Amino acid sequence: MESIIRDLALAEQGHKKISWVERYMPTLNAIGDRLRKEQTFKGKTVCVSVHLEAKTAYLAKVLHEAGANVMVTGSNPLSTQDDVAAALVEDGLTVYAWYGATDEEYFQFLNKSLDHKPHIIIDDGGDQVNLLHTTRQDAGVNLLGGAEETTTGVVRLHGWDKAGTLKFPMIAANDSYCKYLFDNRYGTGQSTWDGIMRTTNLTVVGKKVVIAGYGWCGRGCAMRAKGLGAHVIVTEVDPIKAIEAVFDGFEVMPMAEAAKAGDIFVTLTGDKDVIRGEHMKHMKDGVILANAGHFDVEINKVELEALAVRKFEARHNIEGYELPNGHRINLLAEGRLVNLAAGDGHPAEIMDLSFAIQALAAEYILKNHAQLENHVYVLPHDIDNEVARIKLQSMGYAIDALSAEQKAYLNME
Ligand code: NAI
Repeated sequence: MESIIRDLALAEQGHKKISWVERYMPTLNAIGDRLRKEQTFKGKTVCVSVHLEAKTAYLAKVLHEAGANVMVTGSNPLSTQDDVAAALVEDGLTVYAWYGATDEEYFQFLNKSLDHKPHIIIDDGGDQVNLLHTTRQDAGVNLLGGAEETTTGVVRLHGWDKAGTLKFPMIAANDSYCKYLFDNRYGTGQSTWDGIMRTTNLTVVGKKVVIAGYGWCGRGCAMRAKGLGAHVIVTEVDPIKAIEAVFDGFEVMPMAEAAKAGDIFVTLTGDKDVIRGEHMKHMKDGVILANAGHFDVEINKVELEALAVRKFEARHNIEGYELPNGHRINLLAEGRLVNLAAGDGHPAEIMDLSFAIQALAAEYILKNHAQLENHVYVLPHDIDNEVARIKLQSMGYAIDALSAEQKAYLNME
């Protein structure tokens, strides 16, 4: 099958990146060994549409080595790494993706992948599922179900489920403890700052950092900003999350006020128009705006463009916008998720957990689809526990076990 990638000659660097992360993904390695041995996915086509960097590539390789015919596309035009894509093609997988794809190309690639009529999909953000419900219903003929990687994709899935229109069972991989507790919190916490720091080459210490959204990602990002020496301000719409932010030691205020105070702004809400023109007008000169939420809708770019009297490339991956008052606003990575569009995404040890869950979600769909209805499911808790157990063991930690008496006392079987 003909892949569509930028340049096969980049493969050597891609292989190095994949072997590097493989060494730090012991949980996926252990699960992968079993899946490879059992050839679990033999004869099945799996479409993987997840940010195409080294960790995703390794997940795709595990599925391929476990017998699947794997199609790989990105899930964001700026997060594909061309060398990693080339390495996968050399390893015999089919890839449709390149860095900097236009929106049109991005959807062409997703469509090409779906042309292979998958049995299982692994989605990140819900674009594959959306196509399978609209223009590509034909591609769903073999579909047993799939798994969704991120909060925003799960929110979209619940929309179809609630309306009674979901066409196949989907596992909300995001909602497993071994995913969101670590990936959303510690993964986003570290990689967002990695992306911002490597792109700007500026300090975080001494800056006022505004974190929009105190969910799992926002908590991690605020915690790490504090550790880097920033003064952290949180904006929220949920009163309970707002109290949590206060009790965690952060200032809480509406964006209209935070806009005047902040030096660096990071949106992590999954919502749209969180930072708007009315806020930008009051920002200080030289502020940095970054988004780590799934879609590039959290910072209103249309209003930023409309306000600006001049736009320029301030540095690679930073667009400068000059406002009529002379203040410059710096937007990182076009407002796309900064840890992937301006970095390498979460650390491998974190994605070890997320992709262990994904591999087991794909297996769960394969083995249980006959019992599943067209709803959104979370993996059974014992699968979550199993992933945690393998991870703990790989890190050299042991824990206690409940005795029969303790189980009885706690009303457990
Ligand atoms: P979450 O649901 O735990 O938290 C979102 C928070 O944003 C909630 O507390 C909500 O009340 C708040 N919020 C919503 N609208 C707001 C507004 N206008 N102003 C202020 N706060 C607002 O979701 P989670 O898991 O933290 O994910 C957030 C986003 O990040 C999603 O789009 C998700 O898909 C994405 N994500 C990105 C990752 C990355 O690698 N960059 C990794 C994991 C998730």
